Amino acid sequence: MMKAAASAPGKVILLGEHFVVSGYPALVTAIEPRAVVRVQRGEKKTVVKSGNVVGIWSEGGEQLYPPKNIKNHLQPLYDMATKLLEENSVHACFEAEIFSQIPGSAGLGSSAAVSVAFAKALSDLYGLGLGHDAVIKYAMLAEREFHGTPSGIDPHIAALGGALLYSGPGNYRRVNINNLLEIAVLNTGVRRKTSAMVAHVQEFARKNPEVFREMADFYGEVLAGGLEALEKGDAARLGRLMTLNHMLLRVLGVSSKAVEKAFEALMGLGMYGAKLTGAGGGGCVIAVGPQTSYGRLSDLSQQFQTAFTTKIACRGVVSEA
Ligand code: PMV
Repeated sequence: MMKAAASAPGKVILLGEHFVVSGYPALVTAIEPRAVVRVQRGEKKTVVKSGNVVGIWSEGGEQLYPPKNIKNHLQPLYDMATKLLEENSVHACFEAEIFSQIPGSAGLGSSAAVSVAFAKALSDLYGLGLGHDAVIKYAMLAEREFHGTPSGIDPHIAALGGALLYSGPGNYRRVNINNLLEIAVLNTGVRRKTSAMVAHVQEFARKNPEVFREMADFYGEVLAGGLEALEKGDAARLGRLMTLNHMLLRVLGVSSKAVEKAFEALMGLGMYGAKLTGAGGGGCVIAVGPQTSYGRLSDLSQQFQTAFTTKIACRGVVSEA
C-alpha cells in the first residue's frame, strides 16, 4: 500500500480519573470527535505534520526540523513510529499528517487518539496486521513521553471504543450501556498539563494515606452505583453519582475556578449531575441530564471555549479510506 489512514475517538472518564492512577477501576467511554492520521511512503526523510507544527527527521533519525535546540512537539509520535517499524522489521521513511477534531489538553484524550490512529495507519501502510493489543502497546510509548506515568486508560478506550471498566494495562472489561447515548461537554478553555495534575494527587495520597484510602473506598461505592445506573440506563442516578465523584476530585485539589464555573453553568441548565473529566485544573466538565437540558447547552457557548452534546460509546480505532 502507498497510502493509508486511520481514525480513533476521544474519550470522557465518567467516573474515576486520578483514582485509576492508584490502581482503582475507572469508567470510561469513547466519544464522537475523532482524530484522523494519514500516512504515505516517503523517501530519505520522515515528515510528521499537525496543523502548522512540523517535524522532519533524516533516515538515520536525526532531527532536521525544527533545529535541534528547539523542542519538537511531535517527537513522541516519531519515537513511537520508529519503535513500531523497527520491531516489525520495516526500514523505511514515511510522511504523516494529523487531523484532530478533539480539543487538546482538555481531558478528552486527544494525544492518545492521535497515537492510536497513527499506529494503526502505519500498520495498514506496511501491511503489518497489528491488532488492538499491539496498537495500544505502541500508543502507550507515546503517551509516556507526552504525560509521564499515564494509567493507559486513554489508549485503551481510543483503540477499543465503547465503554470500559478499566483498572490498568490489559486489565479491563467492556460495559454495556443501556439507553444513555448523549453527554454534554463544556470546555473551560483552560489548558493544563496532565503530568502536573497527576503529581499533585499522588503527593496528596502520599501525605494523607488514610484520608486517600477512605476517599477511595467511598469512590468504590460511587463507581458500583454508577456502573449499575449505566447498565440500567438510569441517567438521573448516574448524574448524581458523577456529582459525588466531582466532590471527591475537589477535595483532591484538581478542581479550579474555571472548572467550578462550568460545573455551575451545567447544573443551571437542569442537568442531573456534572463533573470534571480527565486530569482537571481546567479542561472539560461533563454532564448528563434530561433531554430539555441539552437543548439549552448552546446558550453557554458564548462564555466557554466550546459547548457540545456528543454521542458516547462510539467505535474505536478504524481504518479510513
Ligand atoms: O486529562 P487526560 O485526558 O490526560 O486524562 C487524565 C486521566 C488521569 O486519570 C488523571 C491520568 C491517567 O493517566 O489516567
